[in-house]
Formats: sequence, C-alpha cells, structure tokens
Amino acid sequence: MLYLLDNLEMLSFSRRSALVALLAFSSMLPATAVTTSNAEDAYDALQGWYNESVGLWIPSTGWWNSANCLTVIADLAAIDDKVKAQSQSVYSNTWSRAQQYNLQMQKVVGANSMPWTYYGHHWPFFPKGWPKPPPRVTNGFLNDYYDDESWWALAWVAVYDVTENQQYLTTAESIFEDMKAAYGTTPCGGMWWDKANTYVNAIANELFLDVAAHLANRAANKSYYLEWAQTEWNWLKNSGMINAQNTINDGLDNATCKNNGGTVWSYNQGVILGGLTELSRATNDKSYITTAKQIADAAISALTIDGILHDSCEPDCGGDGSQFKGVFARNLQILQQYSPETRYATFLENNANSIWSNDRQGSELSLVWSGPFEAPANASTQSSAMDAIVGALAT
Ligand SMILES: *[C@@H]1O[C@H](CO)[C@@H](O)[C@H](O)[C@H]1NC(C)=O
Ligand SMILES: *[C@@H]1O[C@H](CO)[C@@H](O)[C@H](O)[C@H]1NC(C)=O
Ligand SMILES: *[C@@H]1O[C@H](CO)[C@@H](O)[C@H](O)[C@H]1NC(C)=O
Ligand SMILES: *[C@@H]1O[C@H](CO)[C@@H](O)[C@H](O)[C@H]1NC(C)=O
Repeated sequence: MLYLLDNLEMLSFSRRSALVALLAFSSMLPATAVTTSNAEDAYDALQGWYNESVGLWIPSTGWWNSANCLTVIADLAAIDDKVKAQSQSVYSNTWSRAQQYNLQMQKVVGANSMPWTYYGHHWPFFPKGWPKPPPRVTNGFLNDYYDDESWWALAWVAVYDVTENQQYLTTAESIFEDMKAAYGTTPCGGMWWDKANTYVNAIANELFLDVAAHLANRAANKSYYLEWAQTEWNWLKNSGMINAQNTINDGLDNATCKNNGGTVWSYNQGVILGGLTELSRATNDKSYITTAKQIADAAISALTIDGILHDSCEPDCGGDGSQFKGVFARNLQILQQYSPETRYATFLENNANSIWSNDRQGSELSLVWSGPFEAPANASTQSSAMDAIVGALAT
C-alpha cells in the first residue's frame, strides 16, 4: 500500500485521482466474486428444505414462495448443466404432487401494505381468534389469490423454457384462463388481487401482464396473449399506481380507485420489468424498454443503500416479504439480457457478491443482502438471494 501511495505522487493529477477513485471503489467491493460452483452449493442448500412428499418447500416457506423456489431453480438450470440434470426430478415431482396437496392458507394485507400468509401447517400460529381455514378443495395450481396463481404460471413457463416439455406450458396457459376470467370486473378496472374481491393492487396486475406477455412469446396463440398483455398495460400505466417518481406503490384505494400511497416494495418494481421486456420482445416496440429502464433506475435509486437492495420491512419481513428482493433481481436480469446496461450488470454483481460475502453461513443465505447473516435462513431467503446470484452469473 505504501509503495502504491509513493508511486501515486509521481502520477499526473488527473491520473492520480482516477487511481484513488479506483482504489476507494475496489476497497468497497466484497473480496469474493460469486461463481457457478457457489450457486450450485446454494442450490443444494435450497433442496435441503424441499419436501419431496408434497412437492413444496414447506414448512420452510409457503405456497407462492415455492413457485419462486421452482423459478430460480429453472433459471439456474438454464445456465448450468449440472443443476439442469439434477433438477429434472424436482420439476416432475412438484408438478404432480404440489397440485394435489390440500394446503390450508389465508392471506391478508397488514399495516404498511405488508402481505401476510397464514398456513395450516403453521397452525396454531394464526392470529388469535381466527378459525383454522378449511382445507382447500384441491384445484391444481389455482387458489383464492390471483397473484399466487401467476407465480405458478411463471414458474411453469421458466420450467418449460429449460425443459421444452409442452406439459409445463400447457399448465401455465390453463392457469392464465382462470385469471383472465376476473379481468375487468373491479370498479377500478384491471385485476383483483383475490377472489373475495377485497383489493386491486400492483402485484396482481403486473403479474397478469407478465404472464400474458411471457405466453405471447411462447404459446401457439400469440395474438391472444399479446392482446391481453397490452390491455393490462394500457390500464396499468394509467391506473395511478405508478407515481411521479416512477416507482410503484402497493395498490389502489378501495373507495376512490386512486393510488393508496402504499409501500414501494421491491417486487412491485421488478415484475413490471419482465412484463415490459416480454412485451417489447413480442412487438419489437422499444418504447416498452424505455419505460422499463425508467422504472428500474427509479427503483435502484429509491431502494438501495451503497448499491445494495433493501425492502423497508427489514429485518422483519415475515414469510412473504422475505421473497421480494429476488423478484426484482430476476426481472432486472430479463431486462438486462434483452437490452443491456453496464449499470444493471454492476448492480446484479454487487448484490450477488455482497450476499455471498456478507449474508451467508456455509451455503445458506439470509434476508438482508448487505449482511450480517441472520439465522435461521429458510427456503424463502435462500431462493430470493439465489435470484440475485443467478442474475449476476447470467448477465
Ligand atoms: C412435508 O409436508 C407435510 C405436510 O405439511 C408434513 O406433514 C411433513 O412433515 C413435511 N415433511 C418434512 C420433511 O418436513
Ligand atoms: C376493501 O373493501 C372490502 C369490502 O368492503 C373490504 O373487505 C376490504 O378489507 C377492503 N380492502 C382494503 C385493502 O382496504
Ligand atoms: C386465438 O385466440 C383468439 C382470440 O383472441 C381466438 O379467436 C382463436 O380461436 C384462438 N386460436 C387458437 C388456435 O386457439
Ligand atoms: C424465513 O425467514 C425470514 C427472514 O428471517 C422470516 O421473516 C420468515 O418468517 C421466515 N419464513 C418462515 C415461513 O418462517
């Protein structure tokens, strides 16, 4: 170091400041760059929480989170042949078992627009006075929440992409049919969050767009799905949920159909990026990408500290909020692969490296990506952090 500083004296002023800046920057960078072999170890840890008998990552995490676990595995398999070989049985087992499992659950939106899901297998940890929900009548990958249905549709699209097995695409298409039936039935337009019709929010609408746009680029009836994706986007962009700062609030007020000022969650800044990218891919219209980058830049500026992504719920994000950040990273990867920017590659790399250096114990990854590791990790924190690692490795 002394030697370096001595030599610095001999450099011209401008070269010296450039070098000082570089040294300052590199001392901030975590020591280790994450590797494919690290991602494989993280995959093994994730599978330690896989419940083979039901095809879900329970009780470590929940129903919709399990769809996200499946998605990150397929995304890793797409760039790693070893995981691709290992994960085949996970796809088929989850497909056949999860849809038969009578999962008991109920979702609510709490203070600060924080979603909470209560599961029968976590009983008696339901809020006091709540009756244990009845077992669902098994209905495949459908339940009472349109966002949950979409996560599964997207998981099966990701599995289709890596297996080219038509069965998975067909599953995604049939889930979409159930969602589509609810479109436009709210007083505000767009999609309901739930079949009980209590809330019109960003996540359910972004996911509807995202599923339709993914299917437009894969299914036989392109124009059908494209039309739905465009219908949803034309509503969403004027819905008021995208605010003047280009970040997206949680949802609409029940009574007025105006932006409810709900928390700007990372996943709501993420899903839209994948949806707009797939729309651009389907239409060759680059204006979707311009909008996506405005939203991505606004999110990175609003939700990062020293370049690392955070949600405002940390460190108490519950079983749902612990999944959010990975959704942003995964969808930034989709945007980055279609229309690259150095700043997005840097973002993904810094977050992935920070997770591996600061937020890890063995191969387990926890909630806060800047660290420190907080025990216990679970399949939600693991799969979410893996999204950032896969995003960095893939771009
Ligand atoms: C798998 O899930 C079922 C249903 O919730 C549960 O009874 C069983 O104990 C779980 N298995 C493991 C290994 O956690
Ligand atoms: C919206 O209104 C319904 C019906 O009155 C109510 O059950 C629900 O809790 C409200 N949702 C929100 C997010 O305020
Ligand atoms: C494609 O969707 C359109 C509706 O947009 C429908 O009229 C048509 O029958 C569908 N075609 C196929 C092959 O499914
Ligand atoms: C998983 O870990 C996160 C972060 O500690 C926690 O908020 C969440 O409740 C855990 N999930 C379950 C199902 O226990």
